[in-house]
Amino acid sequence: LLADSLFIINNYAREYFTDTLFNSEEGQNIGLSYFEERGFTEETIKKFQLGYCLNTFNSFSQSALDKGYNLEYLQKTGLVTIRNDQPADNYRGRVIFPIHNQSGKILGFGARILGKSDRAPKYINSPENDIYVKSRVLYGTYFARHSIDKLNECLLVEGYTDVISLHQAGVENVVASSGTSLTQDQLRLIKKYTNNLTILYDGDSAGVKAALRGLDMAIEEGLNVKLVLLPDKEDPDSYVQKIGANAFREFIQENKKDFVLFKLQISMQEAGSDSTKKSQLVNEIAETISKIDKTEDFTRQQDYIRQCSQLLHIDEQGLIQLVNKFIR
Ligand code: CTP
Ligand code: MN
Ligand code: MN
Ligand code: MN
Ligand code: MN
Repeated sequence: LLADSLFIINNYAREYFTDTLFNSEEGQNIGLSYFEERGFTEETIKKFQLGYCLNTFNSFSQSALDKGYNLEYLQKTGLVTIRNDQPADNYRGRVIFPIHNQSGKILGFGARILGKSDRAPKYINSPENDIYVKSRVLYGTYFARHSIDKLNECLLVEGYTDVISLHQAGVENVVASSGTSLTQDQLRLIKKYTNNLTILYDGDSAGVKAALRGLDMAIEEGLNVKLVLLPDKEDPDSYVQKIGANAFREFIQENKKDFVLFKLQISMQEAGSDSTKKSQLVNEIAETISKIDKTEDFTRQQDYIRQCSQLLHIDEQGLIQLVNKFIR
């Protein structure tokens, strides 16, 4: 089966790249020092099975072909590409983040460039194939699932390194959307483990806007969504490394906002005294509230109606009627 072959190749590549990281001179000098400079311990690097791809034309490709792996399948994984009619390493000179499924098998990879470059993308990710479907993947679920289950809460961050640094700080109930806006499949994956989703994004990020757009969908899936905005220019990785594990945990507890109320506050600021915009936002919030499944959580909808009508200085009964208009 194609899927099985892709898993086997990815597993081979994962071993190859970790071996390169720890046992080759270039791997140690460039890859391992990079991770160490970023504050990742050896234990963390091993846990997440991080690796390094040599900055050569085809070391990996040649080794995989010598092993007998099929070129067509190697190309499907994105590990190998054809350059000047030759099989070539696609992730050369990059550090490697394997992406695990819920049972720990490798779906694909994120490959990060070292330092900065205007010419090449910061991350190259696996192309879509039979096993890697971007819209269904949440980075870190394999490492987070027990903790999410135990704490009955899932933290959502943007990037690979955010997940890794938080784990190292002892915060394990965390997964990453890998820079895309949340999809229904990803929300359903979270819902398998918990109803409580807390989004940790940088305050100035496009991610917040994207998350706002996905809020109704999250609520429809029955999730209770909270938001923590990080200080400007910080992401969870940089911030936890800056202030330490305990202070970071306190920061999350103290800055957790209900996402529906947050959305309302943002829209109110935007609307100002414009009455057209104001009635539009009342409609929007009523629609959002209407998506809460009453059979699952009746008081939650009532709580929102009460709190939102107070914030908006409008009549509670009026808001109830508006909410009911959206329910059919
Ligand atoms: N991303 C991507 N391709 C890019 C940039 C980002 O796939 N060119 C995804 C990656 O999954 C990345 C996430 O979006 O982890 C968040 O992006 P960003 O905040 O820019 O990167 P960080 O995760 O913070 O990585 P680093 O700290 O190494 O810069
Ligand atoms: Mn664990
Ligand atoms: Mn960002
Ligand atoms: Mn970062
Ligand atoms: Mn980031």
